[in-house]
Amino acid sequence: MRVLTGIQPSGDLHIGNYFGSIKQMVDAQEKSETFAFIANYHAMSSGNGGEKLAKLTMQTATDFLALGIDPDKSTFWVQSDVKEVLELYWILSAFTPMGLLERAHSYKDKTAKGISANHSLFSYPVLMAADILLYSPDVVPVGKDQIQHVEIARDIALKFNNEYGDILKIPEFKTVENVATVPGTDGQKMSKSYGNTVNIFGEEKAQLKTIKKIVTQNVALEDSKEFEGCNVYNMAKLFLDDHDLTQLQNRYTKGGEGHGHFKMYLAEVMWEYFREFRAKKEYYEKHQDDVRTILNMGANRAKESAAPMMELIRNATGVRY
Ligand code: ADP
Ligand code: TRP
Repeated sequence: MRVLTGIQPSGDLHIGNYFGSIKQMVDAQEKSETFAFIANYHAMSSGNGGEKLAKLTMQTATDFLALGIDPDKSTFWVQSDVKEVLELYWILSAFTPMGLLERAHSYKDKTAKGISANHSLFSYPVLMAADILLYSPDVVPVGKDQIQHVEIARDIALKFNNEYGDILKIPEFKTVENVATVPGTDGQKMSKSYGNTVNIFGEEKAQLKTIKKIVTQNVALEDSKEFEGCNVYNMAKLFLDDHDLTQLQNRYTKGGEGHGHFKMYLAEVMWEYFREFRAKKEYYEKHQDDVRTILNMGANRAKESAAPMMELIRNATGVRY
């Protein structure tokens, strides 16, 4: 089974990104043929570009390798290194009714947030359809906000196949149900755009400072505390096995410790959890050439899959004459 996903290079990664997305990809590479790419063309649609985009692309690649994307197990590349995707984007545009794009929530949400309504933002789902259909994955794991985009890819593929025969594989989406939305320091969904993130990488002191900001209830030190619904507990449980989780629950109910203690504990547990990843990040930061080599190798592998598909499409559509 082939699984494909794309990630926008959009800044420092937080633990919501890790448990909601990255860890799923790392786990998937053990069981399935995994295709993962950095969606740098997509990032341009919300105004990213220039040196900042180039840097973010390398930073995201470095972070993903540090967090466990294994280039021997996964095909890992940068979107813009396989140009076929742009050719397919144009061809698929001819199979995309305007109404399909006009109904896209993501476009409406982003423009409502003040991102200027340029054409790339509007046609974003067509490029995403090309990303998917070029590589014929069986499954595309996505967050809830991206389901509609995969449905659009399916609609476009069906229209294309209707005209030219069974060429494009109709993808299925998969959402991860068991990872509930990771809460931020204020208890809302953790998101860069809400400024409530706990980042994966960063200085130990800065991380503790962020964790100290987590909103908690005001309960006297000696009193028993509820762990259900506590933002500190909800974050800590992502890192703990059953045994340690039960121990933490007991500390809550017993009383005699305040939320400050639980925050210190969370900071320690999190620091420990990412220790090995920090070491890998340090290595790759010092060896950026290795990262480039890995990305090149990935792009070559991705091209091996894209090239025959593109030939089929060129022949069918008459682009090859
Ligand atoms: P952000 O909201 O911080 O901008 P992105 O939209 O770039 O994050 O998300 C990248 C990936 O991380 C997506 O697959 C998304 O589903 C996942 N993700 C982001 N925030 C969370 C969260 N709080 N809980 C679970 N998954 C998340
Ligand atoms: N749109 C996705 C996001 O913002 C990123 C993405 C681009 C993607 N192309 C893709 C995801 C193809 C899955 C498949 O998160």
